[in-house]
Amino acid sequence: MSEQRIALVTGANKGIGYEIAAGLGALGWRIGVGARDQQRRDTAVEKLRAAGTDAFGVPLDVADDASVAAAAELIADRAGGLDVLVNNAAITGGMPQTPTTVDPATVRAVVETNVIGVIRVTNAMLPMLRGSASPRIVNMSSSVGSLVLQTTPGIDMGPVPAAYLASKTFLNAVTVQYAKELSETNILINSGCPGFTATDLNGFQGVRTPHQGAAIAIHLATLPDDGPTGGFFDDGGTVPW
Ligand SMILES: NC(=O)c1ccc[n+]([C@@H]2O[C@H](COP(=O)([O-])OP(=O)(O)OC[C@H]3O[C@@H](n4cnc5c(N)ncnc54)[C@H](OP(=O)(O)O)[C@@H]3O)[C@@H](O)[C@H]2O)c1
Repeated sequence: MSEQRIALVTGANKGIGYEIAAGLGALGWRIGVGARDQQRRDTAVEKLRAAGTDAFGVPLDVADDASVAAAAELIADRAGGLDVLVNNAAITGGMPQTPTTVDPATVRAVVETNVIGVIRVTNAMLPMLRGSASPRIVNMSSSVGSLVLQTTPGIDMGPVPAAYLASKTFLNAVTVQYAKELSETNILINSGCPGFTATDLNGFQGVRTPHQGAAIAIHLATLPDDGPTGGFFDDGGTVPW
């Protein structure tokens, strides 16, 4: 295996994903910039390269089987392996999303991207990750998916985005199940919450910068070999399930 660590970041063309790519690139890592739109992908790769990052574009629609399979082949060809996967790509499905009125098609689309997309990409990349000395998988979740926080009296988690919120609860459950299955391997897999960050996802209403939002993913991508697995973390530490 090459000494340079290789990471794939999904949805790396903007927002928090771009900053995760930039942050891992600044560590000297080689970064696969996973993005579905060619122009946005090329622009991000150029910007990362201009900042000194060894970046290459990975055409990737996480909701599409063929696209994900092709992405795995491209990474094997271009980089010869993979050390870290950051499952960052997600959609909200649009608001409002009250449970009693939400369109089932919205729920289906959100789960397809935010949960099944993560499973699809993870399983496609696992053969390469298994070949790494210190493989890490980071699933970008959200504290809005925490059932404990949602049901604790006195904590205001804002409006109730039925599809998006439940997709992150679902994703957290998926993280735990992967960690259990992979517990005898050297793969560490965790969920991370970036905090309320100003990006397209929320019409730039968030209070954190994308750079700040990227910090937890960079932390979980660079965990030592005796680091945690199957957990849910933000910059403050453990997030309750
Ligand atoms: N912002 C927050 O306050 C916040 C809070 C908690 C958790 N998060 C999580 O943090 C992560 C990053 O969010 P963000 O705020 O940076 O959002 P963002 O700016 O909207 O970026 C989302 C990224 O995902 C990509 N994407 C969406 N669907 C995709 C698909 N099918 N295939 C490939 N890429 C796809 C988008 O690509 P396009 O440009 O092609 O659409 C974009 O690059 C998400 O998992 C989000 O749920 C964000």
